[in-house]
Amino acid sequence: MARCFVTRQLPGSALDRLRAAHEVEVWPKPTPPPPAELIEHVQDAEGLLSLLSDRIDAQVLAAAPRLRAISNYAVGYDNIDLRAAAARGIPVGHTPDVLTDATADLAFALLLAAARRLPEGIEEVRSGRAPTWDPLHNLGADVHGATLGIVGFGRIGRAVARRADGFEMTILTTSSRSRPGALEELLERSDFVSLHCPLTAATHHLIDAAALARMKPSAILINTARGGIVDQRALANALHDGTIAGAALDVTDPEPLPPDDPLLAAPNLIIVPHIGSATRTTRERMADLAVDNLLAALAGRRMPHPVPLAG
Ligand code: DGY
Repeated sequence: MARCFVTRQLPGSALDRLRAAHEVEVWPKPTPPPPAELIEHVQDAEGLLSLLSDRIDAQVLAAAPRLRAISNYAVGYDNIDLRAAAARGIPVGHTPDVLTDATADLAFALLLAAARRLPEGIEEVRSGRAPTWDPLHNLGADVHGATLGIVGFGRIGRAVARRADGFEMTILTTSSRSRPGALEELLERSDFVSLHCPLTAATHHLIDAAALARMKPSAILINTARGGIVDQRALANALHDGTIAGAALDVTDPEPLPPDDPLLAAPNLIIVPHIGSATRTTRERMADLAVDNLLAALAGRRMPHPVPLAG
C-alpha cells in the first residue's frame, strides 16, 4: 500500500479505486494547494495525482524523495518539470483522448459565439436595451464557408476540423512539423484562427504582436489550448486598435486573470474560465484515466497513458 496525495476532489468514483489499493489523502479545498502546502503534502508521498493548476517543479520533486509516479489530471502537462521527473526516473501520465470532443465542442462554441456576437445580444435582451429588428444591428461574421486556421493539428485540432467540415469551411492547418512560413500564411488567410498546440518553449507567445498584425482586421482568434501561447498584452492592443475583430478565450495566463488585468478591458473579447473539458462525463473519464495511470505505475507497470518524457 502506497501513500498518495491527490491535489483536488475529483468527480465520479475513480478515487474509490485508488483508495481500495492505497492510502489516499485528497486536498480538501476547491483551490490548489499553495506551494508550501504542496511541498509539505508530497514529503512522504509515493504517488501524486496533480491538476494543471499545480506547478510540479524541481523544488516539489526534491521535496518528495519517495515519489514513484505522477499522474496529471489533464491532457496538457506544461505544469510539470518533465526533465526533473525523468532525471529521477519518475513516470508521468496524462489523460488524452477522453477530452478531445468536449474541448473541440467548446472551441466551436466560442467561435460561433464570437462570430455572431452572442454575448452582446444576450446582454441587450437582459438589460432591456434590445432594439426592434434592425437591418443594421448586431451584424456578425459568417461562419459557414469561411476559412478556419487550426494551429496545432493533433487530436483536438483534428476534432475541430471535423466540426468545421459540417460548416463547409476551408481548413488550413499548421503543426510543429510544418514548413517555414506556413503559420504566417495561415494567419494571413484565415477568418478564424483556433489554437490547439501544446504550450512549450517554442510556442510561448507564438501569437505575439507580429502574428496578430498578419491576421485580417475581420479575423477572430480562439484559444482553448493554453494562455501562454498568446501574448496577452499584444492581444489587448490588437483588440483596442482593431488589428483583429475579436477573440474568444477559454484559457489565460494566469488563471483566473486578476480583476484589474488590462485584457479584461479589451473590446470584442469573450473569456470563459477554462471549461474546455468541463462536461460531467469527460471529467469522470479523465479521473478514470488519471487513476489508471497511478495504479499501474505504483504496481510497477507501465502507465497506460504516459507523457513522452523530455531529456
Ligand atoms: C487539459 O486537459 O489539458 C485541458 O486544458 C483541461 O481542460
